[in-house]
Amino acid sequence: RSVSLIGAPTDIGAGARGASMGPEALRVAGIGPALQARGVDVKDCGNLSGPHNPWLPPVDGYRHLSEVVAWNQAVHDGVYAELQAGRMPILLGGDHCLGIGSISAVARHCRAAGKKLRILWLDAHADFNTSALTPSGNIHGMPVATLCGFGAPELVRIGGFSEQSPAISPKWVRQIGIRSVDEGERRFVHEQELEVFDMRYIDEQGMRQSMELALATMDANTHLHVSFDVDFLDPAIAPGVGTTVPGGPTYREAQLCMEMIADTGRLASLDVMELNPALDEKNRTALLAVDLIESLFGKSTLMRKA
Ligand code: ARG
Ligand code: MN
Ligand code: MN
Ligand code: MN
Repeated sequence: RSVSLIGAPTDIGAGARGASMGPEALRVAGIGPALQARGVDVKDCGNLSGPHNPWLPPVDGYRHLSEVVAWNQAVHDGVYAELQAGRMPILLGGDHCLGIGSISAVARHCRAAGKKLRILWLDAHADFNTSALTPSGNIHGMPVATLCGFGAPELVRIGGFSEQSPAISPKWVRQIGIRSVDEGERRFVHEQELEVFDMRYIDEQGMRQSMELALATMDANTHLHVSFDVDFLDPAIAPGVGTTVPGGPTYREAQLCMEMIADTGRLASLDVMELNPALDEKNRTALLAVDLIESLFGKSTLMRKA
């Protein structure tokens, strides 16, 4: 397997500054060597560039829309180029608004290749707001809705998509770990029938049952994209994020989640998002993210799959 690390050092869509330092913190935590130790051929493409963060209030329900468009176009182009080269892109965020660029590139690649796309969204949040629903104007709360065609036209259209023919369908998404959804956003999640394995479900049925259901309906022709928002994890183990929500998956639950994804053998692209070193403690959240990514690439204590 060959992967390409793509850094996107910006916090342009976030409500706190600092996710712009995420890519370097993941490198310092050893993401490259950790993947190499899994037998993966790793190419570090370095960092993308884009506009600085002007830190302004919302305009028509969006903060920094033109800057968010520029960053997502850069992410789209970077991720698409690596997919075309036959490599697995790993986007190092950066805030979660960049999932728009990353997943639009993956969707474009899958459409051309006739592949079935499945998106696992590991997050405390549904990120299903629109400009009319958002309480903050922060576009990192909107990527899933935008990819489904409900967003700013300049963002919906990245990758050659449109409102009539958006990058993805809500039916392709499985969300895990959700425990913070805004009032209007909640109604929209139900209306669009997003498949959400929230913390109540994980508490009652366990991570194993949740992941079995979330990973069902995949076949040999499936491209699995994992969008990992580090705030998915319980803040007790992962304090280095801008929007912590108590009551997330424990270390063991997160490991099992990653191991079960690895076992499918279908992982074909990955986002590692929202890591905020300014809020971290001695890079522990980055080190944990790297530890979990090792499991995502098949590391296990004793068992070894053929
Ligand atoms: N729902 C909140 C909002 O729209 C928080 C979103 C947090 N998203 C994230 N990717 N951390 O502002
Ligand atoms: Mn491919
Ligand atoms: Mn989140
Ligand atoms: Mn998110």
